[in-house]
Amino acid sequence: MTSNKIKFVWKNKVYSISNPDPNETILNYVRLKLKKTGTKEGCAEGGCGACTVVLGELENNKIIYKAINSCISFVSSLEKKQLILVEDLVSKNGTLHPVQDAMIKYHGSQCGFCTPGFVMSLFAMYKNFSSYNNEKIQDSISGNLCRCTGYRPIVDAAKSLNNVSRSDQFYRNRKKTLNLLKKIHSENLSLKNGNKKYFSPKNINELKKIIKHNPNSIFLSGGTDLSLNVTKERKEINNIISLNSIKELKFIKERNGNIEVGAATSLKEFELFIKKYYPDFNSILKRYGSVQIRNVGTIAGNIASASPIGDTLPLLLSLDAKVVLQKISNKTVLPIKKFFVSYRKTRLKKAQFIHSIIIPIFKKNIFKAYKISKRVDDDISSVCASFNLEIINKKIKNVKIAYGGMAPIPKRAINCEKTLVNSSLSEESFNKAKKKLEKDFAPIDDMRASKDYRMEIAKNLLMKCFLEIKNRKLIRLN
Ligand SMILES: Cc1cc2nc3c(=O)[nH]c(=O)nc-3n(C[C@H](O)[C@H](O)[C@H](O)COP(=O)(O)OP(=O)(O)OC[C@H]3O[C@@H](n4cnc5c(N)ncnc54)[C@H](O)[C@@H]3O)c2cc1C
Ligand code: FES
Ligand code: FES
Repeated sequence: MTSNKIKFVWKNKVYSISNPDPNETILNYVRLKLKKTGTKEGCAEGGCGACTVVLGELENNKIIYKAINSCISFVSSLEKKQLILVEDLVSKNGTLHPVQDAMIKYHGSQCGFCTPGFVMSLFAMYKNFSSYNNEKIQDSISGNLCRCTGYRPIVDAAKSLNNVSRSDQFYRNRKKTLNLLKKIHSENLSLKNGNKKYFSPKNINELKKIIKHNPNSIFLSGGTDLSLNVTKERKEINNIISLNSIKELKFIKERNGNIEVGAATSLKEFELFIKKYYPDFNSILKRYGSVQIRNVGTIAGNIASASPIGDTLPLLLSLDAKVVLQKISNKTVLPIKKFFVSYRKTRLKKAQFIHSIIIPIFKKNIFKAYKISKRVDDDISSVCASFNLEIINKKIKNVKIAYGGMAPIPKRAINCEKTLVNSSLSEESFNKAKKKLEKDFAPIDDMRASKDYRMEIAKNLLMKCFLEIKNRKLIRLN
């Protein structure tokens, strides 16, 4: 079955939009069509959180609440979701939601421009967890900026939620909402609006048919990169194929010593999964954009964007990951080190998409990763470095090192690696190896960092890695 309507739940009713403009953002739809202006536009690029709304998603017969940036999410992503706006938090009798109440009590708002966004981020936290510590609170509001109040009163407001009732109107209406969400059938979407088309197939077979008839289409995953073409560059994207409703692309599995992650898996899901294998991968993801970005963005999108400062890319390079590429007729597996060609150019061919990413599990190795950016939260890297070392009897048997922000593509430090292989785990070896980084990279000056700073940081991160591992127990004694 194919439908030309987006259907979603709002205020306990199912709404539908026929053939919406595939480039229309949720923010514009909400403000201009629904006339709900509580949701604000600050930056229009996912960086300030003023536009945060929450989407309720049906998962295992439960509703999971996801804060998203409505300014960079296309309206089509409302399909089969519950839309929750800041206005919806106030009960019919005018009672404020506990989150709104707390913001008032703790003076969490001054000019108020950022407040709806903070309220919605805290609302998602309030709904998804039962207690709120500093880490959870800071994570939840890492994508929200406030210029007046300062964060302390907002954090205090969030902490006070530990002492309020968990039964809000969304809890009381949960069965009704679940039934409404279930009532919306999962259908293939095919939208046409003027010269723009949007497809959202439910399975890979349907996807292949769409690709065959629309080979020049652009794939959409989280849209955290793609949508900026519309919101910032004022371009139009004519043919979009969304991969987000394809269940076969939403998986993470461990098999034969590898982790395989499907292209439509969100960064947030992957962040939770990867922690027990590679804690440093988890730490980098925790500083990747914000919760709003990670709730929708994907590793596949990060790889396909091929930005030299894409955070997962040096990590995947040092872990020798492979990219599973799929065309209509065949699937191929390509080592990620061969995937990046030149600045933002990859080996992806027309009508070919990333199916999944395979990441080996190096049980006996030491894996380290560091991100250097101007701000801790919600900032892009100046330099990102990743180290994967096998050490036996204090000797480096194998080493893979990769950097982002040091070249037009994320890249392995081959000369540095060669110097370290078979050398002893000593300061002397690492001092020698760090000089080789000058042979491996010729970084550039830009607004994030100067070339000299980048080189200095790259060398320092190598030494930081050495200092952190030199006394580690994991160093095998054969
Ligand atoms: C506020 C903000 C903060 C950010 N912070 C970070 C950060 O800290 N670190 C970082 O690395 N990046 C960051 N980014 C960039 C962006 O989030 C990432 O590049 C993200 O991984 C893109 O994934 P996506 O699923 O949203 O991709 P999309 O935007 O949907 O797509 C990006 C590109 O990849 C293509 N594509 C997507 N999926 C596939 C597929 N399966 N097969 C083939 N092509 C595909 C699309 O056609 C498009 O060209 C940030 C972006 C914003 C707006
Ligand atoms: S308006 Fe700034 S994140 Fe959307
Ligand atoms: S209260 Fe003014 S920006 Fe936050």
